[in-house]
Amino acid sequence: MASYQRLLVTGHLGFIASAFCHRYKDSYRIAGVDFDGWGAMKRNLVEGVRDFRADIADVGTMRSIIDEIRPDAIVNFAAESHVDRSNEDDSCFWRSNVFGARALALEAVRLGIRMVQVSTDEVYGDAHANSAPWTEGSPIDPKNPYSVTKAAAEMLLAVYGGSEQHRLDIVITRGANTIGPRQFPEKAVPKAVWCFTHDLEFPLFRTPARRMWMHVDDHAAGVEAALRKGRKGAVYNIAPSFDSEEVTATVIRRVRDIIGKGSIREVRDRANYDLRYWMDASKAKRELGWTAKYRLDDTVKETVEWYLNNAGWLEEANGALAGNG
Ligand SMILES: NC(=O)c1ccc[n+]([C@@H]2O[C@H](COP(=O)([O-])OP(=O)(O)OC[C@H]3O[C@@H](n4cnc5c(N)ncnc54)[C@H](O)[C@@H]3O)[C@@H](O)[C@H]2O)c1
Repeated sequence: MASYQRLLVTGHLGFIASAFCHRYKDSYRIAGVDFDGWGAMKRNLVEGVRDFRADIADVGTMRSIIDEIRPDAIVNFAAESHVDRSNEDDSCFWRSNVFGARALALEAVRLGIRMVQVSTDEVYGDAHANSAPWTEGSPIDPKNPYSVTKAAAEMLLAVYGGSEQHRLDIVITRGANTIGPRQFPEKAVPKAVWCFTHDLEFPLFRTPARRMWMHVDDHAAGVEAALRKGRKGAVYNIAPSFDSEEVTATVIRRVRDIIGKGSIREVRDRANYDLRYWMDASKAKRELGWTAKYRLDDTVKETVEWYLNNAGWLEEANGALAGNG
């Protein structure tokens, strides 16, 4: 098994990559690249992580950063990740999610190093009519522009991995719906905390949708296990146990119970609204030795408590959201 020391981690000012940096800052020397875009917060920067401000799709700048830090692996979290925004205009999604991943992959090829591409269960589409959960062999069938760009990146990187010309050492993770500290309050749980603590109604999409709710630390640990133990060219579903699947309305009511007040208002469903993501992570357990540690109740409780204890963070993030929107 290869061992890595110097990592280039992209998107380190965002939600999941900052959790990864917190968890692994003492295990690796980490340099982060982020262009401080949507979802980024400067206060998410983790002490000890070298901080570069750049667009991963900017080939020349990425080459000079990579030559400076000489990573022995790249972990690509950076992406435009909000479905509603992709429904309105997907152009920046193509730039970050596809051209950005491509630029990093070509650098990994040049240096002969491993790249982990952090992808999503959304590439499978919608499981609401399925009789079994998705495995890594299930067909890719994305249903919104965001997940189309994530699927497109995966397909290109898989071709780079399989071709004699590139021989990219690629491992792809497909993560489940993730919650935890430092998630931008456009997403359901931090938004609910914001609404319930500010006497605002939480807007809940009318049609019930099921998600597997995964703690961000479990997601980070799954990505790190894939980095160390993933087979070259392999894809791994990173998902919590099946009993962590729940409809959004129930999770939002749990948030309200923890806070002790709040009202919920039903609103029209978003466009391109997937009703179920349902994923089997037994391959990750078998090959990576990874399983999620958190149960749903603890994931929700710990997440809500973090936002209540970090009201200043939520205030600033909500201000950034209002400023951008
Ligand atoms: N949040 C989830 O539930 C979830 C689930 C599965 C997979 N994922 C994947 O995990 C990754 C991280 O998601 P997140 O929720 O932390 O997102 P996020 O929006 O919180 O963070 C993304 C970060 O990437 C940066 N970024 C975007 N484009 C960039 C570019 N071109 N150059 C440099 N930096 C750029 C942003 O500034 C931001 O800091 C994404 O690839 C996403 O597809 C997320």
